Amino acid sequence: MKTLPGIGLSNVQQVYGGAEGDLWELIMGQQIHIGGFASSMDLAEKAGLREGLRGVDLCCCNGAGMRFLIRFRKAAHMAGVDATPAMLDRARARCAAEGMADRTTFVEADVCATGLPDGSMDFVWGEDAWCYVADKPALIREAARLVKPGGAVVFTDWVEGPGGLSEEEAARFMGFMKFPTFASPGDYRRLLEGAGLIIERADDTGRYAPCLDLYLRMLTEQLTSDALRIIGYDMELMQALGGEMAFIQQLAHARKVVQGLFVARRPS
Ligand SMILES: C[S@@+](CC[C@H](N)C(=O)[O-])C[C@H]1O[C@@H](n2cnc3c(N)ncnc32)[C@H](O)[C@@H]1O
Repeated sequence: MKTLPGIGLSNVQQVYGGAEGDLWELIMGQQIHIGGFASSMDLAEKAGLREGLRGVDLCCCNGAGMRFLIRFRKAAHMAGVDATPAMLDRARARCAAEGMADRTTFVEADVCATGLPDGSMDFVWGEDAWCYVADKPALIREAARLVKPGGAVVFTDWVEGPGGLSEEEAARFMGFMKFPTFASPGDYRRLLEGAGLIIERADDTGRYAPCLDLYLRMLTEQLTSDALRIIGYDMELMQALGGEMAFIQQLAHARKVVQGLFVARRPS
């Protein structure tokens, strides 16, 4: 597990409570994860999520994953946990606007300590967000605590790929992204097994590099003025952001960073 001292939850809250979070939503849409709808559907299929389940989205952001699961997988109820109040306001408003207020509840908390009851969920869900959580052992223990016997912990995440990050690359990448720690698939395997879960899948989705190419093209060929508006027409900042995105694109093509997909089940 790579660690970057000096980055913590307050940095992440600043990102998602401000312009940078809006910029991610501009580029990626409401589903702020690699691969959008296709990625969510792939994850739900691989986890075998059937209708009528109760789940919790850890790092629910604006609630897009919860709405996806209610609409397209017919989840009976989704709880969402997030630590950024502005994102939870957006999540509540969007769920209400789509007629889902009665099937959604929200908790403002660190996902490592949600306060939700033991074994209360058929599944725990996360999409490309656990990379922001500093204490990954505590997060995985919390996910394992929340899921019922027979239920699944199901997530995608940005992880270190087989290409491997040098210390310098990791510091630049994690500093830009505000990732306090960065896991490899092996790290997640150890944590999931250590929490008593049986791993069913630990895959590289292959979506990371093509999506990075897409985002760079969107920023430079279509959405430039929208992006500039969000960051107060600061051309220098725009150039700097473009440069960091191009650096991540290089890491992606060298398979130093990939999108991992994990399904792990609590024994019945
Ligand atoms: C990339 S967004 C999540 C995207 C969302 N899963 C989706 O697919 O649309 C990251 C979110 O994680 C939240 N977050 C990061 N670290 C957290 C923590 N330790 N506890 C709770 N929320 C956290 C941020 O507030 C932000 O809303």
